[in-house]
Amino acid sequence: MAATAAADVAPPTASGYLDPSYWDERFGKEEHYEWFKDFSHFRHLLAPLLSPSLSVLEVGCGNSQLGEELLREGVAGGITCVDLSPVAVQRMRDRLAAQGTKGVDVVVADMLDLPFEQESFDLVIEKGTMDVLFVDSGDPWNPNPTTVKNVMKMLECIHRVLKPEGIFVSITFGQPHFRRRFFEAPEFTWSVEYSTFGDGFHYFFYTLKKGKRSLESNSYQNIIPPAPRINMVHEELESEDFIFRTNVDEL
Ligand SMILES: C[S@@+](CC[C@H](N)C(=O)[O-])C[C@H]1O[C@@H](n2cnc3c(N)ncnc32)[C@H](O)[C@@H]1O
Repeated sequence: MAATAAADVAPPTASGYLDPSYWDERFGKEEHYEWFKDFSHFRHLLAPLLSPSLSVLEVGCGNSQLGEELLREGVAGGITCVDLSPVAVQRMRDRLAAQGTKGVDVVVADMLDLPFEQESFDLVIEKGTMDVLFVDSGDPWNPNPTTVKNVMKMLECIHRVLKPEGIFVSITFGQPHFRRRFFEAPEFTWSVEYSTFGDGFHYFFYTLKKGKRSLESNSYQNIIPPAPRINMVHEELESEDFIFRTNVDEL
């Protein structure tokens, strides 16, 4: 899945993932990398949420092929992929043009200031993008104020561009005890549910349904899986996922 060895592309420390020039340089060299896992690993969770008329926004697309996978699944209401890195955006445009793929717009945009009208999309999806904001969060139980401010900004933008009954899917390392305080903030109207996927190490697939918050949706705290042991993480995570995770959650 990874086109390049992790040692060739990872920054010296996890906080390097916050530097926009890091991504430009990386996407200038790397053709394809899927953070965590590719679509086939979570298709069973995403496909039931899809329908042909959906308009979809992917936030922080990098050089992932998720946009094309959504097209192949029959999504025809418009797919927009955004990334902060102009290099990633140009490479993705070139790839789509070379394939003759139509129906995916790729745009340079900051997820902290999304340039779309309110209520524009039926589905917003991110894979590993919110996790970038956590790489220098400090104590995961009490993230630093900058992390909190930026995560809330990202979520406010996504909530704003979602249609009234739109769905936000977040695919992440972040365990429920570190994500709930953000997802369940009082300014949001979405319900919060999650599933896991992956062998051994679990990735989290959160489904947030706008306008659907209810008391029941907030009651999953008793089913949090235990944090993985450090040796299991070493053995079972792809090597770059391990570097990325190191500052993300407590090991
Ligand atoms: C960990 S990679 C995930 C890439 C892709 N989603 C995947 O699954 O392979 C994080 C991506 O977020 C992008 N990114 C970082 N900060 C961003 C921001 N403020 N707005 C939009 N994209 C951002 C990076 O350029 C990078 O492509």
